[in-house]
Amino acid sequence: MNQLSDRINNLATSATLAMAAKARELRAEGKDIIGLSLGEPDFDTPDFIKDAAIEAVNQNYNSYTPVDGYVELKEAIITKFKRDNNLSYTLPQIVVSTGAKQALYNIASVMLNEGDEVILPCPYWVSYSDIIKLNDGVPVEVKTSIENDFKMTAAQLEAAITPKTKMIWYSSPCNPSGSVYSKEELRALADVLQKHPNIYVVSDEIYEHINFKGGHFSMAEFEDMYDRTVTINGVSKAFAMTGWRIGYIGAPDWIARACNKIQGQVTSGANCIAQRAVITALEAPASCVKYMVDEFKVRRKLILDLLSEIEGFKSNEPEGAFYVFPNISAYFGKTIKGKTINNASDFSLFLLEEALVATVTGEAFGNPDCIRISYAASQEQITEAIKRIKAALS
Ligand SMILES: Cc1ncc(COP(=O)(O)O)c(C=O)c1O
Repeated sequence: MNQLSDRINNLATSATLAMAAKARELRAEGKDIIGLSLGEPDFDTPDFIKDAAIEAVNQNYNSYTPVDGYVELKEAIITKFKRDNNLSYTLPQIVVSTGAKQALYNIASVMLNEGDEVILPCPYWVSYSDIIKLNDGVPVEVKTSIENDFKMTAAQLEAAITPKTKMIWYSSPCNPSGSVYSKEELRALADVLQKHPNIYVVSDEIYEHINFKGGHFSMAEFEDMYDRTVTINGVSKAFAMTGWRIGYIGAPDWIARACNKIQGQVTSGANCIAQRAVITALEAPASCVKYMVDEFKVRRKLILDLLSEIEGFKSNEPEGAFYVFPNISAYFGKTIKGKTINNASDFSLFLLEEALVATVTGEAFGNPDCIRISYAASQEQITEAIKRIKAALS
């Protein structure tokens, strides 16, 4: 008998992790699967960061850290926010967590009461809606499309607001669309929010450095938004440190204090060695990781060029992150190799089984017409994967 809570029974399994598991299964059967489903850089963590971790081990950093992070790390984060984002935070406004994912979970748990609505421009990062639901909130999806570069307009925001709206969550650069909100676009959203002073914003900037056009702007840079914006960031993507599990927030101090309180009951704080290494990572100039961004840019062009040769794939030009999010709805209703494709999940499964390429269905990101393809893979793998996709579909 299922004795589990309704909370866990109602929770969706992460679609990206489910696809990775299915790909692993096929690999175990001896199939040569190319994995373009996961959201992590395929680079090694830079040596200067690894050396800092080794030094921390040898210096016997082994005790619990302050719940909200070492003061030296929080100071490095404050310097980073000032240097890269023109944002001024003080120590009580910073909380270090076990990845940006925990930072997001903390925010949901300290801000949401049952029935509070959170506006999510679609497509959104796969975990947002479930983190919100786990904390009794209600995700409110705002559909966007390739035509407006997958960005929510001020009019759409205005139309989605109800008396129950508590927050808006978005990522820029966006996972999965790669879209980057400009200063002007964010200002238009902020202007709407001026009429609704009780709505808070989560600005997830974890892909900040993986930006091909330059010009990252943070919502909190607007003076009239600073007091109601939580800026989320971390080291997973920019420094190829997904497994180190360090993320952080800059927030109004009452929100940061509440996150500290919940974290004190849940994890007691993030890993001590990883925190020491991240001090070194954040103190380094962005130029130290530019080689990764340059390579992602080359791969972006490669994958867009190759996809443009396949009929029925329609993509925007992502300006950041390392994903393309093509609309493949032209295939809906078609039967290929005996398999009928009715939606993006069928399409993604078809690609896995017939082209041996793992992607993720757009349904997981709130857009059932698209699939997400990660180009955090070598140029050879990308070329071979798209060749296989083309062959399987023709
Ligand atoms: C938009 C977005 N936010 C947050 C995260 C979580 O990052 P972390 O590894 O720091 O938990 C991810 C990871 O894929 C992401 O894509």
